[in-house]
Amino acid sequence: MNVLLLGASGRIGQRIANELLERDHGVTGVSRSGDVGGIDDPDFEAAAGDATDSDDIADLAEGHDAVASALGPSEGQDPDVLVTMAKAVVEGMRDAGVDRLVWTGGAGGLKVGPDTRLVETEDFPEEWEPVARAAIDAYEVIRDADDLEWTYLAPAALIEPGERTGEYRTADGELVTDEGGDSYISMEDFAVAFVDELESGDAVHTYLGTGY
Ligand SMILES: NC(=O)c1ccc[n+]([C@@H]2O[C@H](COP(=O)([O-])OP(=O)(O)OC[C@H]3O[C@@H](n4cnc5c(N)ncnc54)[C@H](OP(=O)(O)O)[C@@H]3O)[C@@H](O)[C@H]2O)c1
Repeated sequence: MNVLLLGASGRIGQRIANELLERDHGVTGVSRSGDVGGIDDPDFEAAAGDATDSDDIADLAEGHDAVASALGPSEGQDPDVLVTMAKAVVEGMRDAGVDRLVWTGGAGGLKVGPDTRLVETEDFPEEWEPVARAAIDAYEVIRDADDLEWTYLAPAALIEPGERTGEYRTADGELVTDEGGDSYISMEDFAVAFVDELESGDAVHTYLGTGY
């Protein structure tokens, strides 16, 4: 598969790039500067682009089989930029005629009970709330693009650099927790789940939670 990877210079994006390349996919990795750092592979090409600009997305997406996103707001940036990026990505994909999208989302909108989302729980850290709310708004933009084959793939509540075990679980719209009630996944295993979904298309039109 020939994949346009937005956010390839980011913490999660770099791991998704490595996982895609390990599986012999072609990757065009995008950042604003065009520098994604540290990836040296004949199947990888770095490109510059602004994910808030639908024309940039359309130009970049052309000729690719799928768009993968690990976009996030930069430090100090208004988290609502995630919504602007979601709109530009959807519009740019339509213009380029590319219809498969896998988007790295947020866990905040996942259910932890019949009527409660993670972001609404008492223990949810206040400082994470703006980005969690913005990620939910971005989800709604993507969800409404039902002409695209989208999957909104959310990490567990906690995601950190760690080990690639190849093991993970998923849940449709729900937070994944382990037996002790902890919700965690390494960035490496999130990348495995991401590429598995990109390859299989098992969870099209789904807000999918991941974890152990
Ligand atoms: N538990 C959770 O729910 C959870 C936890 C962590 C992360 N996340 C989500 O996962 C996503 C990725 O997280 P991360 O930690 O990997 O983020 P990160 O390291 O900050 O990476 C963000 C990426 O987005 C790119 N970017 C930002 N603005 C851009 C623009 N206008 N045009 C093009 N590229 C742009 C950055 O590229 P340049 O700056 O190089 O241009 C970078 O590659 C985020 O959406 C975050 O909210 C969720």
